[in-house]
Amino acid sequence: MRQVVIEPDFEAWRSTARGLLVNGVDPDAVQILDRETPQNLGLIFGQDDAPLRKVEPGNIVVPKAFLEAAQVAARHASPERWQLMYRLLWRLQKERMLMHVDIDPDVAELKRMEQQVRRDLHKMHAFVRFRQVTDEMPSGESREHFIAWYKPDHNILELAAPFFEERFPTMRWSILTAKQSVHWDPESRHLTWAAGCPREAAPQDDELEEMWRSYYKSIFNPARLNPRAMRSEMPVRYWQNMPEVQLLPQLMMQAGSRTDAMIKAQNAETAEAYLPPQHTLPALAQALPQCKGCELYCHATQAVFGEGHVHAELMLVGEQPGDEEDRKGKPFVGPAGKVLNRVVEELGLDRKTMYVTNAVKHFKFVDRGKRRLHQSPRLSEMTACRPWLLAELQAVRPKVVVCLGATAAKSLLGAKFALMKDRGKLVSSPYAEQVVATIHPSAVLRAMDPQGSEQLYDFLRQDLLFAHKAAMRQAG
Ligand code: URA
Ligand code: SF4
Repeated sequence: MRQVVIEPDFEAWRSTARGLLVNGVDPDAVQILDRETPQNLGLIFGQDDAPLRKVEPGNIVVPKAFLEAAQVAARHASPERWQLMYRLLWRLQKERMLMHVDIDPDVAELKRMEQQVRRDLHKMHAFVRFRQVTDEMPSGESREHFIAWYKPDHNILELAAPFFEERFPTMRWSILTAKQSVHWDPESRHLTWAAGCPREAAPQDDELEEMWRSYYKSIFNPARLNPRAMRSEMPVRYWQNMPEVQLLPQLMMQAGSRTDAMIKAQNAETAEAYLPPQHTLPALAQALPQCKGCELYCHATQAVFGEGHVHAELMLVGEQPGDEEDRKGKPFVGPAGKVLNRVVEELGLDRKTMYVTNAVKHFKFVDRGKRRLHQSPRLSEMTACRPWLLAELQAVRPKVVVCLGATAAKSLLGAKFALMKDRGKLVSSPYAEQVVATIHPSAVLRAMDPQGSEQLYDFLRQDLLFAHKAAMRQAG
C-alpha cells in the first residue's frame, strides 16, 4: 500500500492525483492523506497488486462538474475527501457520465461534502460577529480594530474572506479561526494571512467582553429582535459567538438603536442569504423569487432572472427590468429590448447564443397613476443584488461580459467607472476577467435628437461587435 502525504489544499491534491493517474495507480492501492490527518485513521486498505491502468497526461478527463464540486469539497473537514476525489477522478476516466449519476455513492458523497461546505460558508457570512478593540499605536495614537473569532466546521476562511473584504472595506478587521487567521488593512487594502489562533488567545478578557457588549448595545438593531426567528434560524451552537444574546432581555426593553458606520455595514442589505447552495442556473432561478435582499421586492411584480444560453460566450448585463419586463418576467423584452434585438440582428449575431440578464433583478419605479416611471437603483441596491449576478457569472462562465449602461458597469467595475470615457474597451474586474462596457439601449431611445440617438446606437453596435470578437478570440 502506497501512502502519499500532501499539503491540505486542492492544488496539492490535483498535482498528486495527476501523477498517480499517469502512473496508473489504482485508488485501492494508494492512500492519500494530508499532513493534518491523524496517521492512524483506519481507512480501508486495498490490495497492493491492483493492475496498473495508466492514463496519458494529455488524456486526463476532468469534467467541469467534477472540478467545481471537488474544489469546494477540498475544503471539507473529512480526512477522506482526498481519497474520495481521487477515486472519482479515476473512475471518470472510464465512466465519462459518472457525475450525472446522482445515486452513485461516490458522486453523492462528493456532492454532500460540497453542499456542507457551501452551507458552512453561508453561515459564516451571516454569523461572524466582530468585537471592537482599540489598538494603541507606537505613535501614541489609537485606532479602531474589529476582531472576530469564529469556528467554521470546514476549512472555509479563504472562501469567506472576499465577502468580508467587500462588505467592510473601510474597517480594520481580523477574523481568527483555530487553523488560520486573516487580517484586512483598509489603508493598503490588503489581506494578510497568518497562523490560526485558539479561542482562548482571541481577545476576550472581561474588559474587552464588556466593551464588546456595550458596543453591541450601541449598534443594536431592533429589527433583529425576534427571538423566535432567531432561535429557528440560528442553531444554538452559534450563540456562543453572539454576546448580544446575553443582553437580549435588556435590549428588548430598550429597543432603541443608534447608528454607526458598523451598523450600516453589518446590517447592509444583501441577497447573499437567499442564494441556493448550488449555483446552477435552474437552482438560482428557483430561489430568486424568494429574495428579500433589499426593499425592491416589495413593489415589483416579480423578480426577473437572466435568460439565454447556459454556457454563452457573451453575457449581457442590463440595469434592471423595465415596466414590461416586470410584467412578463423576462429580461429585455420591452422597448430597450427591441433596440438590443435590432443591433444584434444587424451584426448578424443571434441573441439565443448569448445570456442576457440585469444587475438588479427587481423593477424599481415610482407610481405616477397610470404609468410606472423607471428609477435608477441605488448603489446599496446594486450591491445587495450583486450576489445573484455573480452566481450567474459563475454558472455561465462567459468569455466576455458586456455591461449595458452605467448601472451594470458600476456593479461590476466599481462606482468610479467612467462609462463614456472607457466604453468599448476590454477591462477587467475582480468579478469577471474580460468586461466591455457600453451604452444602454434605452439611452438610444432617450437621446435628445436624432443625431444623438444615431451616435449612441453606433457606439452600442461597435462595442457589441468588439465584445463579440473578443469572445470569439477567447473561445479560439
Ligand atoms: N432595461 C434593462 O436594463 N433591462 C431590462 O431587462 C429591460 C430594460
Ligand atoms: Fe433581492 Fe435583488 Fe430583488 Fe433586492 S432587487 S430583493 S436583492 S432580487
